[in-house]
Amino acid sequence: MTDDFVRIDKVTRRFTQPTPWTEHVMARFGVEPPARTVHAVTNVSLGIKRGEALGLVGESGCGKSTLGRILCGIIPPTEGHVSIGGEAVTQGAKKATRRVQMVFQNPFASLNPRMPIGAAIGEGPLAHGLVSRAELAPYIRSWLERVGLPADVAERYPHQFSGGQRQRVAIARALAMQPDVLVCDEPVASLDVSIQAQILNLFLTLREELDLTLLFISHDLGVVRHICDRVAVMYLGRIVEEAETASLYDSPAHPYTRALLDSIPRLEADGSEAQFKAIAGELPSPLRPPPGCAFHERCPLAFDLCHSEVPLLKTIDRSDQHRAACHALR
Ligand SMILES: Nc1ncnc2c1ncn2[C@@H]1O[C@H](COP(=O)(O)OP(=O)(O)O)[C@@H](O)[C@H]1O
Ligand SMILES: [Mg+2]
Repeated sequence: MTDDFVRIDKVTRRFTQPTPWTEHVMARFGVEPPARTVHAVTNVSLGIKRGEALGLVGESGCGKSTLGRILCGIIPPTEGHVSIGGEAVTQGAKKATRRVQMVFQNPFASLNPRMPIGAAIGEGPLAHGLVSRAELAPYIRSWLERVGLPADVAERYPHQFSGGQRQRVAIARALAMQPDVLVCDEPVASLDVSIQAQILNLFLTLREELDLTLLFISHDLGVVRHICDRVAVMYLGRIVEEAETASLYDSPAHPYTRALLDSIPRLEADGSEAQFKAIAGELPSPLRPPPGCAFHERCPLAFDLCHSEVPLLKTIDRSDQHRAACHALR
């Protein structure tokens, strides 16, 4: 599609560990070395329109963060291209580092413990010339207020805040860079459930006020539902389903998406938690992705073809907005 603001085009990322010398020795004796290449992301294509929020969900280890880091220019793809507004994302380029900002799961790890939070929020915008030194203090105050923090906390240090407040600081720091795209990598996963709702509401408000283009990563389908216009489901490095949010939740097509939806804990009317089904089996190792459809070992619908041929993403509805990669959907 041509009106995509963010383009992720056939992106693959592998991580290859160096071979230790012991294995060279073992190889001489005919011992087969273990697999050393992690297939973290395989042939992923996604587009995000300007102002749109795309959710990226899947179990831990399926490659979500790797894709987010590639989009931010933190690591390069092994193959494929990423562009924002028609411009390629290149690692380390000053403009690229400002245009895409990332909010991480653990705000403690992403904030310098020795730097007052106001300085942390202001350093990037100052370095990129977004604000003058004279205007810096009011600039920082305005971002603190925008994320729901008192304007007079700029001199405090990260440890003086609660987890939820610290995540607000991290969000302010990312947004103060006036990015075109915000990548949120499990931004509420480390927070108490009651705080999660507050931070999710903050994202909703900010989305509307700032017309943000978002990639919102979560292992929890329940979390992305409220934030995102569209959702992509990832399994072992590949996108297995992609649809508008309502369509995905109302009529999930891929057996993996269905299993994920069944595994969301739900509250019953009486307040008790409904029994939910865990997905049978384990995520296969990305060191040795299974042949064919990576989900076939856990799939109730799998048949011969699924063991040998990788299913391609295909449109499954007339609106052309809902795509799934499953041989059983023919
Ligand atoms: N720098 C790295 N070196 C080696 N393997 C990595 C690296 N980063 C991620 N991986 C591996 O890539 C796979 C996908 O990881 P990740 O993108 O973090 O998944 P997710 O965010 O969905 O949990 C995992 O098997 C992980 O161990
Ligand atoms: Mg991750």
